[in-house]
Amino acid sequence: MKSVRGIVLSSLLLLSGCAVAFSKNVGESEQDSSLPVIAQDGEVVGIAEISATSVQELVDQFYQNLVQETDEYLVVKDFSSKEELVNHLSKYAQREFAEKQVNSLYEEESGQLRLIAQETKQPLQETEEVTLNKISDTEYVATQGNETDLLGVQTVEMVFVYENNKWLISDSKSYPDLADDYMSTLALINKRYFLPSDYVPVELVEPNVPFTFEENLPKKLMVQEAALALEELFSAAKKDGIDLLAVSGYRSYDDQTSIFAWNSNLHGEEEANQFSARPGHSEHQSGLAMDVSSKSVSYALIEEFGETMEGIWIAEHSADYGFIIRYPEGKEEITGYTYEPWHLRFVGKEAAKEIWREEITLEEYLGEM
Ligand code: DAL
Ligand code: ZN
Repeated sequence: MKSVRGIVLSSLLLLSGCAVAFSKNVGESEQDSSLPVIAQDGEVVGIAEISATSVQELVDQFYQNLVQETDEYLVVKDFSSKEELVNHLSKYAQREFAEKQVNSLYEEESGQLRLIAQETKQPLQETEEVTLNKISDTEYVATQGNETDLLGVQTVEMVFVYENNKWLISDSKSYPDLADDYMSTLALINKRYFLPSDYVPVELVEPNVPFTFEENLPKKLMVQEAALALEELFSAAKKDGIDLLAVSGYRSYDDQTSIFAWNSNLHGEEEANQFSARPGHSEHQSGLAMDVSSKSVSYALIEEFGETMEGIWIAEHSADYGFIIRYPEGKEEITGYTYEPWHLRFVGKEAAKEIWREEITLEEYLGEM
């Protein structure tokens, strides 16, 4: 298993196709990524503009240095701690970004740094055009549209800042291209992939199922296909003597902003983000998710729901109607969230059945870990 993972990772790097061409330019691009401050008569008047090419090269450098050579046990040869590698990568990226990437790829074990089962991809493709938008003299956002097999076009957004006399990667995010207001039922929305703040799904409807409240609130809504599937799921449950109630579906970006702020105030931002999504990063904004509960847990959204007859029924049958338990127990490292036996996500029957059969997550199904 270990060596297989190693092979996957190295072949991905080779696939990126830029390794050879790029390595001979390292010296040059190092200069590009640390463009000098423009001075006139000793006074700083601005900073040399970053170019699309230097952005691409900086990102290439970061990812080539991120994925270190390992021995047959996947132990990194040149660095023995995450901190050492993060220090090394701070030539190309802000520490926080470097830490996030290093944490997703490596673990520290007995004074060694070991590659774990995560793949990584350089976010900017060499073949596609990069658009640079200037935010300020010291901040640029690079945007690129990438075609993916399963998700359609994804927009990649990378933020670059000028710090300590050089350009550094500050952040990287991707989101589905929603130009046609159409979102795939397989859209991946998680800590990495997010929805734009102005995204509202078209055709939100109220599924004809019992709710835990009477009022006509937006949280009753789902996109049509998901709403119809939820109705089927609830009537199948009813036939088996299982009474489910819907608690919360669609949430706007602004609602999620308030919810996340509330949770952060109560628990601190880091802890809140273990169970509550930041605005833009919640599946509830997609209209494809519904939280469900039952009388046996007083309609609460708590882990114990997973142990109830209703929770067990849901885990066993929801895939037949196109839903998955999006945040399963034991998969916290992959989904980024603690176990939520109540959060149903519509992905369509084919994907749901495979995800259920293989006991995997949407991230694993889409190969986007
Ligand atoms: N509880 C899930 C992660 C959300 O906030 O969307
Ligand atoms: Zn939820």
